[in-house]
Amino acid sequence: MSGSWKLLADAADISPDTGTLRTMVDGEAVCIYKLEDRICATQDRCPHGNASLSEGYVENGTIECPLHQGVFDIASGAPLCPPVTTPIKVYAVKVEDGRIYIGTEES
Ligand code: FES
Repeated sequence: MSGSWKLLADAADISPDTGTLRTMVDGEAVCIYKLEDRICATQDRCPHGNASLSEGYVENGTIECPLHQGVFDIASGAPLCPPVTTPIKVYAVKVEDGRIYIGTEES
């Protein structure tokens, strides 16, 4: 198994209003989050009803889904409040020269 880094976006493209940015990597929608001290990334699709988490609300390291208000921990992907019960995928992220890279694993 080996990992690689793929360019996701420029950090400047993250909305200052929502703190999120939706982008695509390998045909999969990814949501980037600008938290107080770092940048994180998870799958963008809510497993409960396919809403885009990038349209949700970021608060204290969590993302609230815009459709039914399920909440996930952004760092771990853990579901924190009903109706969501399935964790979301979390990606490794690195930032270099204002550019955001996502870690991908290939076997
Ligand atoms: S679609 Fe996200 S909580 Fe229902």
